[in-house]
Amino acid sequence: MLSNRLQAITPSFTINISAKVSEMKEQGKDVIDFSIGEPDFNVPQLAKTAAIEALDLDKTKYDKICGLSELRLAITKKLMDENNLFYEIENIVVSNGAKHAISNTLMALINPEDEVLVPKPYWVSYPEMIKLTGGVPVFVETPNRNQYKITPQLLSPYLTSKTKMIFLTNPSNPSGIVYSSEELLQIGEFCVKNNIYILADEIYERIYFNDSFTSIASLGQDIKDKTITINGFSKSFAMTGLRIGYSASNIEIAKAISVIQGHLASHPSTISQWAATAALNHCNHEPAIMRKTYKKRRDLAVSMLNAMEELKYVTPQGAFYIFIDISAFKKKLGYSGSFSVAFSNSLLENALVASVPGIAFGMDDFIRISYTCSEKHLLEGLNRMHTFVRSLQMTK
Ligand SMILES: Cc1ncc(COP(=O)(O)O)c(C=O)c1O
Repeated sequence: MLSNRLQAITPSFTINISAKVSEMKEQGKDVIDFSIGEPDFNVPQLAKTAAIEALDLDKTKYDKICGLSELRLAITKKLMDENNLFYEIENIVVSNGAKHAISNTLMALINPEDEVLVPKPYWVSYPEMIKLTGGVPVFVETPNRNQYKITPQLLSPYLTSKTKMIFLTNPSNPSGIVYSSEELLQIGEFCVKNNIYILADEIYERIYFNDSFTSIASLGQDIKDKTITINGFSKSFAMTGLRIGYSASNIEIAKAISVIQGHLASHPSTISQWAATAALNHCNHEPAIMRKTYKKRRDLAVSMLNAMEELKYVTPQGAFYIFIDISAFKKKLGYSGSFSVAFSNSLLENALVASVPGIAFGMDDFIRISYTCSEKHLLEGLNRMHTFVRSLQMTK
């Protein structure tokens, strides 16, 4: 009865975990939730005020499909000031979150059987989104020695006449790695040479812990022409529920995205769009405060993980996750099916710490934890994790 399209789709792992955590909490269990991919900050006050004002002033009618002109103007200004990216408002389409901007882009560019390169570890939804548009996700292995980063050498063997696009998540969810300008330039030039579109998912762009962040589209006109930059307000302004994201691309693609969005969703809520406009125009100091907090937590988490010798990880340079290699415990833990699911379940049941199994990101020897919680909770959760891995070590 249901569509064939649905047959190939895997339900979200993260939704299963959230359901289990909620159930345990309802039973009164004191679970520390490291599985969440959502900032623990609130929407900036001036953005809230703008949303309330939008309602009061009846700014609640249908508006432009591609998003409010005021918001797109603020986005072009942000891209210019922060990312050295020059776009007109016609290049920007505002959508219901970055997720929607990505699916619009796929619909605009991907034909059935087109191949899309997806470097591992990848964000959970990419493969399913690609399959839903009829495309074929092609998973690119990335060695640990290269910190899970792609290079032209690593990508070359995966190219075929059907390769149409690559997903580049920077900073990465789940690994937290951040690419340097030099690394991005090499990837960009490789894509231009091989006529591949770059879907640059930069949703965590404001959460980086080194000196600066580079947007791949800023590295040359030919790279910019092939790049669709995806961004949004969920992570940088803690506006997850307001559902505002956007794409910046060449005009032809922007128009196509707008046509698709027009038929399927019209435009995001005008109330949320006014909040986002205020966030960009008046609240730019807030992401900087959040970044500092995340960095402090990252440092704390890393110092505690260092004491758990069997767990390996690449120190994250951005986003708010740590992707932990748990393979040292493979022989210690009895399991059938997915090892990371078994490990994550056991951690939850025995230590009351929720994590996301690495299989959700295409790598079954890992779990992902996030540090979107207070230092107190982080400390408590990691102490519990330490006790848990110690008990596993002692298992024969
Ligand atoms: C890498 C990545 N891209 C996109 C999204 C979606 O963000 P939004 O809430 O704007 O749809 C997420 C959310 O977790 C993400 O981690």
